[in-house]
Amino acid sequence: MSVGILGAGALGQLMAHALQEQGHNVTLLRRPGHADARHSHRLTPLSGPDRCHPISHRASDQPQALSTVLVLTKAQDCLTALEPLLNWLPADVPIVLLHNGMGPQQAAVERWPGHTWWAGSLTDGALAHSSTHVRHTGQGIRKAGPLSDPPTDAALPAPLADAGFEFDNAIVTALWQKLTVNLLINPLTARDRVCNGSLLNEAYRDELRALSEEVALVGRALGQPERGSHILDRALTVAQATAQNRSSMLQDVEAGRPTELDAITGYLIRQADELGLPCPHHRRLYRQLASAQ
Ligand code: PAF
Repeated sequence: MSVGILGAGALGQLMAHALQEQGHNVTLLRRPGHADARHSHRLTPLSGPDRCHPISHRASDQPQALSTVLVLTKAQDCLTALEPLLNWLPADVPIVLLHNGMGPQQAAVERWPGHTWWAGSLTDGALAHSSTHVRHTGQGIRKAGPLSDPPTDAALPAPLADAGFEFDNAIVTALWQKLTVNLLINPLTARDRVCNGSLLNEAYRDELRALSEEVALVGRALGQPERGSHILDRALTVAQATAQNRSSMLQDVEAGRPTELDAITGYLIRQADELGLPCPHHRRLYRQLASAQ
């Protein structure tokens, strides 16, 4: 049995290496029509010399024996990427949604309710130098838990435990907390084209405070009560730990790719609209970023 990974970007490649190094067979699940192949993938770790692993590539519409599927596509690509796989994947194979932002997780469960859905968050920094070479740029926190409602007592699938994930039975709260980090770091770094660590400068403090207070307001109404100062501290801790990192949204902007703005700031604004809350700073950021795409 292999662990299937949908999404061969920086984090998909990073997880492929982490799993291979723990003795799992990994298959990168490519678009329908992709010919079977085995490529040598290179990892530049946080310290020490580069390491190489041979990794299989197979089309996602080809039935194959998979123990678990990790979904590391961009948020906006997640549902389309899942479709060919869900035509044949047995319903009891855990599918772990690991993209940034919120929205697609709930949409996947609604659209394919019979499958075994998990979600998770990982805050590692990673940079894809090419489709077969990734650099690990920051150690993050990795968490996953069942998405089914109410939460089951299911144990963490073995590949996740081996890749350093912690079990979290309140994963929606973890997703929200990760979203609060992405809401503060990603749009600002992408707008100003700066590394995460630049947000520690005093020049950003007022804007970050205002953004944090707006997130806290929406969070409270959604049953995620937290003070704005906690939200800000969490984002600054991540910015510090990944100071040299270019956020995933900045990498997308620089490469001319679509960003996850809609699943991050867009998600917050949609919730605020439903709740009748203003969120002017996030709306302005959304407009600034959306017009740059
Ligand atoms: O999207 C990203 O870049 C990452 O989630 C994070 C944690 C902000 C680190 O760069």
